[in-house]
Amino acid sequence: MSRLSVYHEDRSGEPQVFSDIDKIATQLNSIGVLFERWQAARPLTPEAGQDEVLAVYRESVSRLNEHYGFQSVDVVCLRPDHPEKAAMRGKFLAEHVHDDFEVRFFVEGKGLFYLHVGDRVYLVLCEQGDLISVPANTPHWFDMGANPDFKCIRFFTKPDGWVADFTGSEIAKSFPTFDEHVAFSS
Ligand SMILES: [Fe+2]
Repeated sequence: MSRLSVYHEDRSGEPQVFSDIDKIATQLNSIGVLFERWQAARPLTPEAGQDEVLAVYRESVSRLNEHYGFQSVDVVCLRPDHPEKAAMRGKFLAEHVHDDFEVRFFVEGKGLFYLHVGDRVYLVLCEQGDLISVPANTPHWFDMGANPDFKCIRFFTKPDGWVADFTGSEIAKSFPTFDEHVAFSS
């Protein structure tokens, strides 16, 4: 289940936890993050490729494209048997920013975004049907878990916008990993 856990950046106190979609969206909207739940126009098979995925979500994708003027959209899929999974997971595990805003829609599976805004860290456990945007220049990191299993639509406003600029902060290490968080939440 999608879940938002709001921590103090120094991990003091208990996190505030939200599992209602509207409440998650309201909390995230207040920090400039778009969060939406999309419905598939028809069921998708796990084997569905990029064209089929984009066709099923055409209406929502077009609406977002019109609003934000994305230059390109693609579909990425990562399964637990991927030989490079550890390296791919490791790429975005440390706090970073980028010029472009990062927009992901979860067609299948799960992923955990960590957004560092002010003195708070927002852990957003995304699952099938969730769309999330990370605003440009917002410090964040992402954990797909030791056995990643997801399919996502990615939206880009510029060709090199996704280049990560690492902040050098070690903050990510003091927060639960995807696997710890999912085990704790379920
Ligand atoms: Fe990122």
